[in-house]
Amino acid sequence: MSNASQLSDAYLLREDAPLDDRNTFGIAARAPCLVEIADTAALPEVLALPQLQDAPVLILGAGSNLLFAGNPEGAVVSFDCRRVIVLHEHDDHAVVRADAGAQWHALVLWTLQQGLSGLENLALIPGTAGAAPIQNIGAYGCEVGEYVHAVEAFDRTSGELRRLDRAACAFAYRDSLFKREPDRYVVTALELSLPRVPALRLDYAGIREELSVMDVATPDARSVAQAVIRIRQRKLPDPAVVGNAGSFFKNPIVPTALAEDLLQQHAGLPMFRGDAVDNRKLSAAWMIEACGWKGFREGDAGVSAQHALVLVNHGSATGVQLLSLARRIAESVRARFGIAIEPEPKVIGARW
Ligand code: EPU
Repeated sequence: MSNASQLSDAYLLREDAPLDDRNTFGIAARAPCLVEIADTAALPEVLALPQLQDAPVLILGAGSNLLFAGNPEGAVVSFDCRRVIVLHEHDDHAVVRADAGAQWHALVLWTLQQGLSGLENLALIPGTAGAAPIQNIGAYGCEVGEYVHAVEAFDRTSGELRRLDRAACAFAYRDSLFKREPDRYVVTALELSLPRVPALRLDYAGIREELSVMDVATPDARSVAQAVIRIRQRKLPDPAVVGNAGSFFKNPIVPTALAEDLLQQHAGLPMFRGDAVDNRKLSAAWMIEACGWKGFREGDAGVSAQHALVLVNHGSATGVQLLSLARRIAESVRARFGIAIEPEPKVIGARW
């Protein structure tokens, strides 16, 4: 049992708090201190609490992109604020503001109901609005960074709340300013600029096929979201059924010349546009599957049989077991393809 103490209306502090239900891998872990914030205005006060001074603070969203390979050393802070509003209305677009604690998928559905588009390809991604810009979530040919109007974040260096526009956020593939400076910024709200007239993105493999199976001849943003939901439900294991954190590895970006050499040696290796004209993104899932890991299981730690990029906890795997499996996978990909793959989730309590 953890000790709960209501120190203020704006936050709740518990000591020695379990985190098992707060990470989608379902790994047993405990926080020396867990603070749930109901009003982001209380953040400076919370960050100044004595319990938060000894070790780095972990800001926890839905726990869908982290692996507890040990207990967090310092306090854990989570946002309970979930307000979503239309901030500005314009003829052709609107700016929507979501508190950090809002659930991402609920936000996507809400924007579609308002007649706004842009987020349809990002439906059903687990996590919170506050976490979305940190790793610049992306799927089916779209990244959240493209629609970010501004990110509101508390700057721990200056002690001020700041609004950073899209350029200042420095978005890249699964990366941003916030990811590069994790101990500096705490994201408190996300503002998205969403068009009223959709510019649908249907080119990612599988979307048009799914729309055709759904008998949709003239897709709109809502039907594209439905298609994405159906593909994700089929291809990715549901964290409510089997513990996982989505893709465990990022797709490596390599120089085009190297990508072409690899394709000569490994026919069929899928590759996509990179983040510059002279590089390509390789499919880590394909390389992991080629190394024989898809569906692998050792004890309760395994690789999904649905998708080779997803590590799964079949029951009571520990974070250490999952991390050790991840290292073996990365080593075999390096040995066979000469390519280093890196984890997408944040690893707590161990170094990669
Ligand atoms: N593939 C395999 N084996 C598999 C799965 C996929 O060989 O088990 C091959 C497929 O043949 C396909 C290619 O890999 O050509 C790409 O597969 P997929 O469309 O599933 O995309 P991905 O590159 O593996 C990325 C994101 C996912 C996102 C999908 C769809 C990363 C790290 N992952 O996966 O994001 O849903 O694209 O856009 O970029 C996540 O970040 O947690 C996540 C699930």
